[in-house]
Amino acid sequence: MKFAFTLATLAAVTFVSADVAIDLGTATDFTVVAVGGITNTGASGPIIGNVATTGHNVSGFPADAITGDVEERTPAADQAHSDAEAVWNMLRALEGTQVVSTPDGTIVVTKGMGDASGNGTTNFTGAVFTPGIYNVFSILHVVTNITLNGEGQYIFTSGSHFDLDANASIILANGARARDVFFATGDSTNLLAGARVEGTILSNSAIRLAAGASVHGNIYSQGLMTFTEASVTPVLRPT
Ligand SMILES: *[C@@H]1O[C@H](CO)[C@@H](O)[C@H](O)[C@H]1NC(C)=O
Ligand SMILES: *[C@@H]1O[C@H](CO)[C@@H](O)[C@H](O)[C@H]1NC(C)=O
Ligand SMILES: *[C@@H]1O[C@H](CO)[C@@H](O)[C@H](O)[C@H]1NC(C)=O
Ligand SMILES: *[C@@H]1O[C@H](CO)[C@@H](O)[C@H](O)[C@H]1NC(C)=O
Ligand SMILES: *[C@@H]1O[C@H](CO)[C@@H](O)[C@H](O)[C@H]1NC(C)=O
Repeated sequence: MKFAFTLATLAAVTFVSADVAIDLGTATDFTVVAVGGITNTGASGPIIGNVATTGHNVSGFPADAITGDVEERTPAADQAHSDAEAVWNMLRALEGTQVVSTPDGTIVVTKGMGDASGNGTTNFTGAVFTPGIYNVFSILHVVTNITLNGEGQYIFTSGSHFDLDANASIILANGARARDVFFATGDSTNLLAGARVEGTILSNSAIRLAAGASVHGNIYSQGLMTFTEASVTPVLRPT
């Protein structure tokens, strides 16, 4: 009995560290999916691939900025949103490594205005990660570039917002690939001017891309989406 128990425990540990099967279903047909409409200001583009919203409309983009189809309030849009939402739910339930402050100061969990325990924003300032599942208490705030180092799957979940400061980037190194990177947020996602994300974003609320921001990944919002001179290149399907 003791032997069997040990095996079961090992299996559970292995499951957490192994790749999680992520099937975005029909959402992989879309680079951008939102619920509350998608609005643009300025010379955004390119948005490579198809764009969908289940409510409102897609407005303000320059002609040709979106290379694929635009679906507004169609069954295909509803299905893509539903498929993305299911994956968001699955990812947010994953228990991985709880991110805490590091002695070198590249990760600082601030106190106050955060979760019920008083854990607030987690500042990432040049932090380096290896493949794995990382849970952030409240706001995941990228102050300066962070690096994902090595081939494998990276999943970040946050209790609240996912914010990147101006010019902050997610850098891929030593075989890390954007298609293996996922951010599942507890609130909105905000990329300030010039910020760049490598990986797919599943956001509980609005996604906002400021001037010159870019995503090399697919983006799914359960709220609205706003673009300002931004670009998106999908990674979940060959283009
Ligand atoms: C598009 O949606 C916005 C709200 O998101 C609304 O203000 C605007 O009137 C809509 N335009 C059209 C043509 O439906
Ligand atoms: C977190 O980053 C912001 C800058 O974006 C800074 O104002 C704040 O002091 C930082 N907090 C800590 C504890 O490092
Ligand atoms: C709050 O953060 C500290 C580390 O800064 C951690 O030890 C503690 O478990 C956290 N509380 C909760 C409820 O997550
Ligand atoms: C952050 O990464 C970008 C590449 O996306 C690079 O151009 C920039 O110099 C880096 N910034 C810092 C502070 O290292
Ligand atoms: C971001 O980078 C651009 C140049 O690429 C520079 O003009 C701008 O001042 C930078 N913004 C910040 C806040 O560092």
